[in-house]
Amino acid sequence: MEKRSHWSSRLSFILVAIGSAVGLGNIWKFPYIAGENGGGLFVLIYLICIMVIGLPIFIAELYVGQKSQSNLVTAFEVLDKKKSKWAIVGWLGLVSAFLILSFYSVVGGWIIDYLVKSLTFSFSGKTDSQVQNMMTELFSSPFKQIGLHLLFMFLTFGIVIGGIAKGIERWSNILMPCFFVLLTGLLIYSATTPGFSQALSFLFSFNADKLTAAGVLEAVGHSFFTLSLGMGAIITYGSYLSPKENLLGTAVLIGFMDTIVALSSGIIIFSIVFSYNLDPSSGPTLMFQTLPVLFAKTPGGEYVSIAFFGLVLFAALTSAISLLEVMVSYFDESLNWDRKKTTSIICILLFLLGILSALSTNILSTFYVVKKLTFFDTFDQLTSHYALPLGGLFISLFFGWKVGADKINEMVKNQLIAGVILWSTRVVAPLAILAMIINSIF
Ligand code: TRP
Repeated sequence: MEKRSHWSSRLSFILVAIGSAVGLGNIWKFPYIAGENGGGLFVLIYLICIMVIGLPIFIAELYVGQKSQSNLVTAFEVLDKKKSKWAIVGWLGLVSAFLILSFYSVVGGWIIDYLVKSLTFSFSGKTDSQVQNMMTELFSSPFKQIGLHLLFMFLTFGIVIGGIAKGIERWSNILMPCFFVLLTGLLIYSATTPGFSQALSFLFSFNADKLTAAGVLEAVGHSFFTLSLGMGAIITYGSYLSPKENLLGTAVLIGFMDTIVALSSGIIIFSIVFSYNLDPSSGPTLMFQTLPVLFAKTPGGEYVSIAFFGLVLFAALTSAISLLEVMVSYFDESLNWDRKKTTSIICILLFLLGILSALSTNILSTFYVVKKLTFFDTFDQLTSHYALPLGGLFISLFFGWKVGADKINEMVKNQLIAGVILWSTRVVAPLAILAMIINSIF
């Protein structure tokens, strides 16, 4: 067998894993779903989910990858037995990855468009409503949407085809730190805007009246999406980790950083929303219709805009790569295809499927798959509300009951922490996931 490639250092792995976790989920999705669900209480539930469900499952996925040193399907066979039924979890993960990347790439395309708009100084001197109309224009053009989606897919393809170890590691190590510096800068800037304190109270004070069962489902689902959990992305990345590496601290650090980015993006975006009297519950267009309003008004805003959309594009790419890598690593290892062929075929299929999402804001905007949900919404909700939590449920049970107490004690020396991890993966996380899925059905 070929020797499996490994990350070059622990720090490097941490940056790559943060690259997978931190993406459009944090910057684009978290603020808008928090806005739609009334803020405070939604944020609290999301934070609880990250701690009670997200972190234990993150550790479980890392462990399964690291100990098995194989792709997400074979991993279960290595740790359990040949032809293990648990391998179905891996298959479910492949389907989820496929669906997620197909619409993720469409949103990635919007980012490319906004980066180009920034580079051509298109926001300068525009009024608030002119800036907001730019999004409407983009949404209504099928060709633009498809073209941008193709471009994003192509960039993702370009990185993954070269093998992630060298390319993605090198870029992550430079650009993730830049991203954090810029985010901190924007956060400090937002503290000087008049809407800042209202943004804080929107996000951190509890008004129970707007939260619905659907909102709870959204919070649970998003805790999976944002940590890249429930479909084997972390199993795959964990499998490139040397078997000796300590997992616990790594998982906590990654979960912490991911949460910080989501909350910071929320604070930045809502400070602008409240400073300029925009609508906090405007949905998926929120980020695109708020930040440019600020960039258009502040001196030097054009340059901040370029840096911002550039780094968001990078954050989106480092996440997209992890989704694609899951599929590529499986098909090239198990079918013995070469990497070039696998990557090309998968990307072509992804492009084709993504067209349905690209057309969901124009030609197909009134074509509902179920209950008022366009293709875009369906792929998004099917994966983050159901497929990821369900995948997470199985991974959690596998880790808690199959891998079991002895192995967990071996990995985590502190008895108390080992106990918490054992029982959260055996009982607490699975029950919480089940409860919310059942709750959402009735
Ligand atoms: N976590 C990424 C984000 O927040 C998206 C992502 C990357 C993802 N890999 C994943 C989501 C695997 C679910 C599963 O944008």
